Amino acid sequence: MPTGTERLDLLISDRRIRARVTALARRIDADYHGRKLSLVVVLKGAFMFAADLARQIGIPWTIDFISAASYGEGTRSSGTVAIEGLDRLELGARDVLVIEDILDTGRTSAAILDALLQRGPASLALCTLLRKPAARALDLPARYVGFDIPDDFVVGYGMDYAERYRNLRGIYRLVLDGSSA
Ligand code: IMP
Ligand code: MG
Repeated sequence: MPTGTERLDLLISDRRIRARVTALARRIDADYHGRKLSLVVVLKGAFMFAADLARQIGIPWTIDFISAASYGEGTRSSGTVAIEGLDRLELGARDVLVIEDILDTGRTSAAILDALLQRGPASLALCTLLRKPAARALDLPARYVGFDIPDDFVVGYGMDYAERYRNLRGIYRLVLDGSSA
């Protein structure tokens, strides 16, 4: 457990987030016009982004939720990805857009996309609010990226550190002093 102090530095203001979410929604409207858009939200971190994005999308959509956990208590990936909720999905002939909070190593999204592909969607793409440098190099179909960010641990706007800070309206860099978490 961290014993030092935690500091939050603003990285992306809520104003910038709102503008970017609106721009992404306009692109999704244009790209998926006349198609059967199915949003698949990856809980928990993407819930706030998904709610704001979905309400800005003008074309009809359906929505489902899955959950993926690759992080334990701290800020490091555990390397294993547990996905829940896949069995409930009915994706046949739908154009699936996966909504993610953040691509770090990209392992979580890769596992999710693999699992969804096996369910035979008409098309499959990814929309992520944030992307870290390691994921930029990967061959993931990240069709929509909100912001490319540095390799820092971030919280806010749905994203947590040990289940805290999800309520913040902006996105903050979490700086841990005197701790190896
Ligand atoms: P990946 O599998 O390494 O790409 O990790 C993806 C998941 O880890 C994301 O969907 C987040 O839930 C979590 N994650 C990665 N980086 C951060 C971060 O900086 N803050 C909060 N959660 C993160
Ligand atoms: Mg996540």
